[in-house]
Amino acid sequence: MINPLRKQKPVLDEAPAPEPRPAGATTRYAIEARGIKKSFKAGQMMVDVLKGIDLLIEPGEIVLVMGPSGSGKSTLLAAVSGLMKPDAGSVIALDTNIWRMSRRKIDRFRLANCGFIFQGFNLFPALTASQQVQIILKFMKLNGRDRKVAAESALNDVNLGHRMHNRPDRLSGGEKQRVAIARALAKKPKLIFADEPTSALDGENGNVVMTLLRKCAKEQGATVLCVTHDARLATFADRIITIEDGLITSTNADPALFAHHH
Ligand SMILES: Nc1ncnc2c1ncn2[C@@H]1O[C@H](COP(=O)(O)OP(=O)(O)O)[C@@H](O)[C@H]1O
Ligand SMILES: [Mg+2]
Repeated sequence: MINPLRKQKPVLDEAPAPEPRPAGATTRYAIEARGIKKSFKAGQMMVDVLKGIDLLIEPGEIVLVMGPSGSGKSTLLAAVSGLMKPDAGSVIALDTNIWRMSRRKIDRFRLANCGFIFQGFNLFPALTASQQVQIILKFMKLNGRDRKVAAESALNDVNLGHRMHNRPDRLSGGEKQRVAIARALAKKPKLIFADEPTSALDGENGNVVMTLLRKCAKEQGATVLCVTHDARLATFADRIITIEDGLITSTNADPALFAHHH
């Protein structure tokens, strides 16, 4: 149905729609997103936030999506990771056509395969650092002993071995962010989605986090999609994709382009 609120479509929207794919599609990419569109209603207007985005990411790649605030980075991450259904387009992640699946199956797919690192830490106030990590592993049906070992190992990886039994009110902002990262990485996810993972961190802690994400990619074969406007992260990426006003402007930007900002 034609929505009268919709503003005039840009010419780019007239590209042919991608071929429909079955739910169990195969692709050489860890993530193959095509033709992603998303609009939000803002008062009487529809605002087109993603205007037809393709995103192809190889297994083990660490890709940074960079763009100014409001360019659609978080919306793109949500659409690609199964958190928010796009209005159009397809996402094949680990050979699974995710938006063809039921909500419940998508949730299960995310639990089994995806680690999320968000801007806010979303920690439980009453739980210690170790418990914050263990709770996810419990959802994954690990037994108590394995949970404890995996949580300790993940916290050691982010240099928080000495904070294992602290609750969030006894942790600094940087420490909280590192707990959230340990929680995301403890289950050794095949796909890691990070939204401004270093926004609460100083330079040193930012480096710890990005080094860890690189390690996940290079040693465990995880695929990392990180969206940020922090130019300091550019050097950690295999590839930089730039987004502006809901459209990709480059799929292989030169990291040096970002270096002069700092
Ligand atoms: N749930 C929503 N409802 C309405 N507008 C939204 C919603 N989410 C995002 N937007 C708008 O979409 C645009 C892009 O947002 P976002 O993807 O968060 O950008 P970025 O992460 O690059 O800063 C912004 O103008 C934002 O206000
Ligand atoms: Mg954002």
